[in-house]
Amino acid sequence: MNVASESEREPTLRFKITGTGAALPERVMTNADLERMVETSDQWIRDRTGIRERRIADEKTATSDLAAEAISEACAAAGIDVEELDAVIVATSTPDTVFPSTACWTQRKLGIRGMAAFDVSAGCTGWLYALEIAGGLLAAGSAKRIAVCGAEVMSRSVDWHDRSTCVLFGDGAGAAVVELGDGTTGYLARNWGADGNLAPVLYQPAGGSQLQASADTVARRLHSVHMEGNAVFRHAVRSMSGAAQQAVADAGIGVDAIDLLIPHQANARIIEATRERVGIDRDRVYSIVDRYGNMSAATVPIAVDHARREGRIHDGDRVLMTAFGTGFTWAAGIVRW
Ligand code: ACO
Repeated sequence: MNVASESEREPTLRFKITGTGAALPERVMTNADLERMVETSDQWIRDRTGIRERRIADEKTATSDLAAEAISEACAAAGIDVEELDAVIVATSTPDTVFPSTACWTQRKLGIRGMAAFDVSAGCTGWLYALEIAGGLLAAGSAKRIAVCGAEVMSRSVDWHDRSTCVLFGDGAGAAVVELGDGTTGYLARNWGADGNLAPVLYQPAGGSQLQASADTVARRLHSVHMEGNAVFRHAVRSMSGAAQQAVADAGIGVDAIDLLIPHQANARIIEATRERVGIDRDRVYSIVDRYGNMSAATVPIAVDHARREGRIHDGDRVLMTAFGTGFTWAAGIVRW
């Protein structure tokens, strides 16, 4: 654990992550596989994104299947049965169906009922939004044990003919069981925000109330990710670093007191530029983007789960998380573990 300044405050939002879990499809898609599908190269993908491979769900696997698996694992790690949860929150941009929520489908797959279940739609920032909401529910006494999950089957939302997007994404789910704890753990500082004016820069045009599905929307490939990559890149770096710096300042600690930075894993260059602006050494940044690509809302919780299992996070550590996504949305927070 790194040393904090004496001005470090007590958590502003109290919670304890008592268990984490992850679900990753078995099928690995390498850059060499993509070379056979679109006009691209392993070299281009690695140079521009740092991604070597990603996981792709089989046809029978929906987002809720991955969510259920990750939540089961998180509950096992927390030492509770899934029936003991009293809320299930799933952050996703690739829901099973427009309605009901993926959280309700997840309940069904877990064979549980009764507790509240709902989705959060905030793109790649979704899991941090869901954690903020979970902390609020705990503080209000609305719930005691909440599953906070980020789950995506991005491969269903990708146009496999569009080389500028299909090389970026992967499938997976990560989950945490969040409880109140003894008051010493939780967010030391955090912030969240959005700018909906930038919605058209990164979105899926068809399938919602703006443009209903039709033969024409399918023919025009409007049911997939449409993105201005350069604009997303610039905003991602600015927002993730800005939100992280704000959290460090609000916590009353120096950046040297951060034990680990877990940024959203979209692209190795975005992670590196964010790291540089925040001013943290490379060995205190956790990255899995080379193995899994961008799994949107699932990236941060999977990274948290892997870091925890690899012994990179210890009780008492200060872990800075920061994310950016469609909307645009952003959020950052420092958890005292
Ligand atoms: N293989 C080979 N060439 C490609 C590929 C590809 N897969 N994709 C694009 N190119 C070409 C382009 O056609 C272009 O060619 P041209 O110069 O002949 O026109 C050239 O490469 C450069 O294209 P740029 O878009 O300028 O490349 P850039 O360096 O900006 O990298 C990238 C593109 C990787 C998409 C980058 O903009 C990026 O990472 N943006 C962020 C996108 C992102 O992460 N989105 C995820 C959702 S939001 C989030 O998670 C934060």
